[in-house]
Amino acid sequence: MNILLLGAGGFIGANLVERLVRDGQHHLTALDIDSEKLADSIGHKHLAYRDHDIRQSGHALEQLVTENDLIVDLVALANPALYVTNPVDVFDLNFTENLKIAELCVKHEKRIVQFSTCEVYGKTVASVLGKDPAEMPFPFNEDESPMIMGPIKNHRWIYACAKQLLERVLHAYGLERGLNYTIIRPFNFIGPRIDYLPSEKAGNPRVFSHFMNALLYGTPMKLVDGGRNYRAYTYIDDAVDCIARIIENPNGVCDRQIFNIGTPENEVTIKQLAEKMREVFDEEFRQEGDPLPEIVSVSSEEFYGKGYEDCDRRIPDVNKARTLLGWTSKHDVRSVLYHTMEYFVTKHRKKQQAA
Ligand code: UGA
Repeated sequence: MNILLLGAGGFIGANLVERLVRDGQHHLTALDIDSEKLADSIGHKHLAYRDHDIRQSGHALEQLVTENDLIVDLVALANPALYVTNPVDVFDLNFTENLKIAELCVKHEKRIVQFSTCEVYGKTVASVLGKDPAEMPFPFNEDESPMIMGPIKNHRWIYACAKQLLERVLHAYGLERGLNYTIIRPFNFIGPRIDYLPSEKAGNPRVFSHFMNALLYGTPMKLVDGGRNYRAYTYIDDAVDCIARIIENPNGVCDRQIFNIGTPENEVTIKQLAEKMREVFDEEFRQEGDPLPEIVSVSSEEFYGKGYEDCDRRIPDVNKARTLLGWTSKHDVRSVLYHTMEYFVTKHRKKQQAA
């Protein structure tokens, strides 16, 4: 198969490309505006990389769509700090630009694998009823769960709304124009190459990178609003294994389906995540004399600015991936954290030695 991967240079894309290149079954054309995370794959005979901004692409993108059998769309701004600081850019890229890709797939009758987000589910019923989400576990199911967002003034939700609207448009194109789509909703993947350390690049990445940075430099690990909310973490290799099965689409089982990819067993509060990361670092990576950071609480307004609101709990229902694709994830929380931290610690120590 000829596969066009858009937004291939991000965390998920780079890990997916590495796996597909290793399998050697398909010819890949990968597009992005930054190829740093693809460094180990570029040059491989099954991969053509193009530095290409899809916001400026026009005819060139259409030509590429016609030349490929499958389009994998990973183009996104998926970092919560940006939903607060740049909501219009978040809408433009995550909806407007992605819509153009979907329209090209409709026009040229190409299958699309669209990356969405677990954020489309929004908040839990418990949070709306003012109950403790710990007492009301409510796994999110792809085809049944309602989606509950916060008010407009909390503009964090523009991302979830943009992604949800895109999903609804793909579904409508499937109904009316025969578009063959598969939507993937990732639930907090982590692993090598996730985001960046805030000490090395300006910006506000996701929580793992903040905590990793704190461990490497001995600065405080900051819990937003006490770190009471939950996330369920999935190791990127497990996630990529599921994505590869979706790409293969045996007997068309993924046609016009939505898949959660996640690990319900790996649910922790953010406070527990901080404590576990500190424990793993202390036991496995800490060198003599390295300080162990303190864990402190900050308000969400202080950390993100006005307009932030959090998803309180998101438990993936992964029965569909299990029954249709035979997929389950294999890494528990400790192993997810160990492997991801190992990557960053090794990189950091190499850099220190070279300095
Ligand atoms: C993000 C994206 O919005 C989703 O689209 C994406 O699917 C998801 O990551 C993912 O990785 O799959 P979120 O989990 O909210 O969602 O991203 P984080 O920035 O990692 O935040 C997780 C939690 O940690 C939040 O409660 C946040 O307030 C908290 N946090 C973040 C801290 O307590 N301290 C920090 O230093 C940073």
